[in-house]
Amino acid sequence: MKTILSMKTLLSMKKRLTMNCHYLKINTALKAVAIMVAGLSFSPSVMADADIDPPLAALGPVPIPPDNEMTPEKIELGKLLYWDGRLGGDGSMPCAACHAPELGWGYPSSISRGYPGTVHWRNSQTLINSAYYGKLFWAGGSNSLEHQARGAAKGGVAGNGESNVMEAQLGLVPEYRERFEEVFGSGLPKVENAWEAIAAFERTLVQRDTPFDLAQTDASKSLTAEQQRGQVLFEGKANCLECHNGALVSDEQYYNLGVPSNKQWETSGLAQITFRFELYAKGVTEALYRETKRDLGFYFRTKQKRDKGKFRTPSLRYVKYTAPYMHNGTLATLDDVIEFYNQGGGEDAFDTKTSILKPLNLTESEKRDLKAFVLSFSGDEILMQKPELPPSRALNYFEVANSHIDKKSNKN
Ligand code: HEC
Ligand code: HEC
Repeated sequence: MKTILSMKTLLSMKKRLTMNCHYLKINTALKAVAIMVAGLSFSPSVMADADIDPPLAALGPVPIPPDNEMTPEKIELGKLLYWDGRLGGDGSMPCAACHAPELGWGYPSSISRGYPGTVHWRNSQTLINSAYYGKLFWAGGSNSLEHQARGAAKGGVAGNGESNVMEAQLGLVPEYRERFEEVFGSGLPKVENAWEAIAAFERTLVQRDTPFDLAQTDASKSLTAEQQRGQVLFEGKANCLECHNGALVSDEQYYNLGVPSNKQWETSGLAQITFRFELYAKGVTEALYRETKRDLGFYFRTKQKRDKGKFRTPSLRYVKYTAPYMHNGTLATLDDVIEFYNQGGGEDAFDTKTSILKPLNLTESEKRDLKAFVLSFSGDEILMQKPELPPSRALNYFEVANSHIDKKSNKN
């Protein structure tokens, strides 16, 4: 009894800890508990039960890395580059081609469009609030927006650009030469700086005034009765909080839920060729290269069998605008998603499905309440006009020579 009481105290301490610091990873928080209990005499089995989920909370200010500070000029440059196909192979695939503001900052088909001549192999994610993730992509393959932007512009099925060609294309735009010089002091534009500017722009794509957030932060606001009933289900009977928790409404862990495969993708030749290319690029075994028809998710990163078919828990923020859902877009509506969970998830193609999902036996009105609560994490639609892009002009000899001298003198 004494043990249980002190465990409770510890857990409530941890709860407060995570409430004060929303972005603290659950691991770090668990470590903190581990350190706290280290001096006490708990058995390991008691520790294993200490699975307390960080409470849902209002979204705090966006984290900004110290080596890429935000300035209005940098954000403005990032916004231009976000729409500019010159950062890419054939000029037709800027970030906005697959992350369009009026399409939830994503792309509305189950599998995203790809670079001309390919299709993509996953559903395009929204960029709203992506700045809060520690790991980006469905399988967490990138750990910063700067790194991610580089991968997107160069990746074979996305931007398919070559760094030196992209740099040359930016260098041919007089306005970019001025803007890069002003923001980065770099003479001719550098692609590495372009990723920094885009990341700074993405850190402005944030939504913190949803009905859920306002109910937390503004005493005059509250959730509707339907949403409140939905929250009780979310945190209880429906058990969503187990994985969708904290301020981001994601634990950023990886699970196989048994999401059905995308038939259209399995039978399309072009999609399969694209997928073989990805398998090869990710260095899987020859047997897998030949036989796998499905997306192995987190396995590509760890090469551990237990990670096959696992994907990062996505945030539930802004989902009102981001249908279809899941890594392969096979669930068309939020009603479909809730029905999927109600059935206890899907079939296990890899023997790795999480044991957390169980049939939920939700009534029709409970499903409506749950959906209403999930929608409370979405505020107004965030729309933006495509900016007017600056024209290119051939460089003359003196401009090239001068920018070379500038760079040299900068170094001294
Ligand atoms: C051809 C379509 C396409 C283009 C072009 C593209 N993306 Fe994406 N983007 C996707 C798809 C599809 C995913 C999900 C891929 C995955 O998880 O493997 C994604 C994922 C992302 C994510 C991760 C979001 C999250 O929740 O983890 C970010 C950030 C992102 N893209 C930013 C960019 C930026 C910046 C550019 C331009 C430099 C860009 N994208 C260009 C299709 C595209
Ligand atoms: C075991 C952890 C876990 C539990 C429990 C869980 N989810 Fe998820 N959720 C995930 C993962 C992982 C994905 C992505 C799966 C994929 O694409 O294969 C996801 C995807 C989603 C999506 C799609 C988001 C998008 O951007 O496509 C929604 C909506 C969602 N979950 C809502 C819920 C609701 C509502 C509940 C409770 C009934 C719930 N989840 C319970 C882990 C979980």
